[in-house]
Amino acid sequence: MNLLDVRDLRVEFKTPDGSVVAVNDLNFSLAAGETLGIVGESGSGKSQTAFALMGLLAKNGQIHGSARFHGREILNLPQRELNKIRAEEIAMIFQDPMTSLNPYMKVSEQLIEVLRLHKDMDKKTAFEESVKMLDAVKMPEARKRMGMYPHEFSGGMRQRVMIAMALLCRPKLLIADEPTTALDVTVQAQIMTLLQELKRDFNTAIIMITHDLGVVAGLCDKVLVMYAGRTMEYGPVDDIFYKPSHPYTEGLLRAIPRLDNDGLELATIPGNPPNLLRLPKGCPFQERCHRAQARCFSEAPSLDTFGNARQRACHWNWETPA
Ligand SMILES: Nc1ncnc2c1ncn2[C@@H]1O[C@H](COP(=O)(O)OP(=O)(O)OP(=O)(O)O)[C@@H](O)[C@H]1O
Ligand code: SF4
Ligand SMILES: [Mg+2]
Repeated sequence: MNLLDVRDLRVEFKTPDGSVVAVNDLNFSLAAGETLGIVGESGSGKSQTAFALMGLLAKNGQIHGSARFHGREILNLPQRELNKIRAEEIAMIFQDPMTSLNPYMKVSEQLIEVLRLHKDMDKKTAFEESVKMLDAVKMPEARKRMGMYPHEFSGGMRQRVMIAMALLCRPKLLIADEPTTALDVTVQAQIMTLLQELKRDFNTAIIMITHDLGVVAGLCDKVLVMYAGRTMEYGPVDDIFYKPSHPYTEGLLRAIPRLDNDGLELATIPGNPPNLLRLPKGCPFQERCHRAQARCFSEAPSLDTFGNARQRACHWNWETPA
């Protein structure tokens, strides 16, 4: 059985200007210990996908479809059950660690509280367990830093505290929403290495959300490429990198900063994602696509499954060389 099976996940927001489908019939699965990258530009629906799974949608949002975690449906669960699942089975980390950390409490108090609440540990055991977890996230002098407040840490160290807090109850799945975007490049690389090590040591499955396809290369087993709330392409990471079969994936690949590209301008995808309230007829990527044909403007491509559990929504005949 898969750890997570998502079927026809749809997130719709009611707004005064009409209904916005932020996530449109996503399908993906994750085995224990596996890592999925969800990649796409701003507004493509990455965070709303994660929020739907965590029960964190805004009040005007509605969820449809199914998400089975260990075979159990987790969409639209009552708050009490969600709270339990959230800490103990699925944890989430955010771009800004202060989303999870309380600025007025010492790190020790915050970590201990999680363990006392969810694992019913006594204070002393919880303290020792917290030090161990800070060690695991490579916090130098972990024991000494337990007594510090979040603002006394650097951005990268705060991110480590948040990761430690997320992993305290040994969740089976960690959802990381752009966890390194706010950090400088060196610290970004350190955090990615850390996540790789934690994945190995704790066998935690990870959903890594990022706008940078380059970030997923070393960490992910599978990649879901999203645009305007839809799956453009989905498949094993090597296929996505070496045999991309969607013009949007091709564009994201060209936009990855490379060491051998020093000084050269990155090939960004021209144009902007469409307004979800006024999606064009046909393919949502049509205006920016270098392969668009007449059909792309009149008919939306269906999401087809092919090859090694891959999915793609595109009219282009990918068997024919461009
Ligand atoms: N409460 C809401 N009401 C209406 N629309 C919303 C609401 N929350 C999000 N959206 C819309 O849903 C779409 C997807 O948003 P989402 O936050 O998932 O994007 P994202 O891929 O995470 O982007 P980013 O990289 O900027 O974080 C956006 O167009 C956004 O405006
Ligand atoms: S369906 Fe057409 S416009 Fe859309 S990505 Fe494929 S080729 Fe481009
Ligand atoms: Mg987001």
